[in-house]
Amino acid sequence: MNSKKLENIIFDGEKLTVLDQTLLPSEVKYIDIPDAAALYEAIKSLRVRGAPAIGISAAYGYYIEAVSNSDKPDFESRMESVRDLLISARPTAVNLSWAVNRMHNLLIKNKDFGKDKLLDALRNEAINIHNDDKRNNLRISEAGLTLLKDGFGVLTHCNAGPLATSGYGTALGPLILGSERGMKFHVFADETRPLLQGARLTSLELISAGVDVTLICDSMANQVMKEGRINAVFTGADRIASNGDAANKIGTNSIAVLADYYGIPFYMLAPLSTVDMDCVCGNDIIIEQRALEEITQLHYKKRMAPEGVKVYNPAFDVTPHELIKGIVTEEGIIRPPFNENLKAAFERARQRRSC
Ligand code: MRU
Repeated sequence: MNSKKLENIIFDGEKLTVLDQTLLPSEVKYIDIPDAAALYEAIKSLRVRGAPAIGISAAYGYYIEAVSNSDKPDFESRMESVRDLLISARPTAVNLSWAVNRMHNLLIKNKDFGKDKLLDALRNEAINIHNDDKRNNLRISEAGLTLLKDGFGVLTHCNAGPLATSGYGTALGPLILGSERGMKFHVFADETRPLLQGARLTSLELISAGVDVTLICDSMANQVMKEGRINAVFTGADRIASNGDAANKIGTNSIAVLADYYGIPFYMLAPLSTVDMDCVCGNDIIIEQRALEEITQLHYKKRMAPEGVKVYNPAFDVTPHELIKGIVTEEGIIRPPFNENLKAAFERARQRRSC
C-alpha cells in the first residue's frame, strides 16, 4: 500500500493517538487520546471519522478505559457508562456500536478471568478489529476492481479512503489498488458540503496515491454524468439495512438518483461490519443532525449566511436499495435480492473465520 498514507489511528499497545482530520489538508497534527471523554470529543467533532475508523478508535478507547478502571469496585458499571458514552458520539455509522458492543460483550463473557487475562483479551480484541478492517479493505478493493476497466471515469462522494478506514479504504480502495497496478482512472470527487470531506480528504488521498482526480462541487455531478465522463459511481456507507437500503454522507442519494437516470451503475463499498441486519429498512436508520454553523460559517473566511436564517443540517441520507447495483464487501459483490444475499455473505464470513 502507498507509503504516503497518513496513519489515522496509532495504538502502541498502551497509548492511542489519532490524526486530527479536521485540519487536513493544511496541517498534519496528531492528538493523544487519554480517555473515553477525549475520544468522544474527537469522534463527535470528526477529528477521527469514517465509519470503520470510528469503530476501530472506539475499540481502543474502550480498552484504555478498561485499563484505568480495572481496579475499581464498580468496574462493570463504569464500563457500561464508557460503552454508552462512546456509542452516543455518532448515531448513524453502525461500526461504532458494533465495535464497542463487541468489546463490551467480551468483557462480560470474560469478567471472571482475572484482571491481567481480561485486559489482554480486550487489547487483542481491539487489535483484531483493526487488523480485520485492514484485511477487509484489501478484499473489498480486489472485488471492487473487477467492476472497473482501465480508463474508467468514476464519481465518488465524501471520503471512503484510507483516512476513513485502516488500509486501502472502501470506495477508494479499488482505485488506489488499480492505480498501484498501473491502471488509469479519472476520478471525480464531489466536494461534499458542508464538511468538505471530498475536497479536503479524498482529493488529498488520491493525489498522494497518484490517481487522477478532479474536484467538483456537489451540484456538478449531473453535468459530468451528462457529459458522459462517468462509468461508475463508488461510495462508502455508514449503515446498510438488511433490505439493502444504505445510509451514507448527505448527498449520496441524489447521486444515486442521477446515476439511475443516466444508466450509470451505482455501487456501495463497505465491510460487513457496516451491515445492520437488525435494521429492517432505511426508515429505521437514525440520521445524525449536526450544528448549523457547519453550513453558515465553517470553511468560510467569515460567516456567509445572514444571522437568524433557519438551517437544516442532516449529515446523512439513505439510498433505497432499488438504486444500488451492488454492495461490495469482503465477501464479494452482493447483488439483489440483498436480504438473502447479505445473509449468505455473513454465513461465508463465519465459515471463513472458523477455518
Ligand atoms: O461524517 P463522516 O465524514 O464520518 O462520513 C463518512 C462517510 O459518509 C463515509 O462515506 C462512510 O463513513 C464510509 S467510510 C469507509
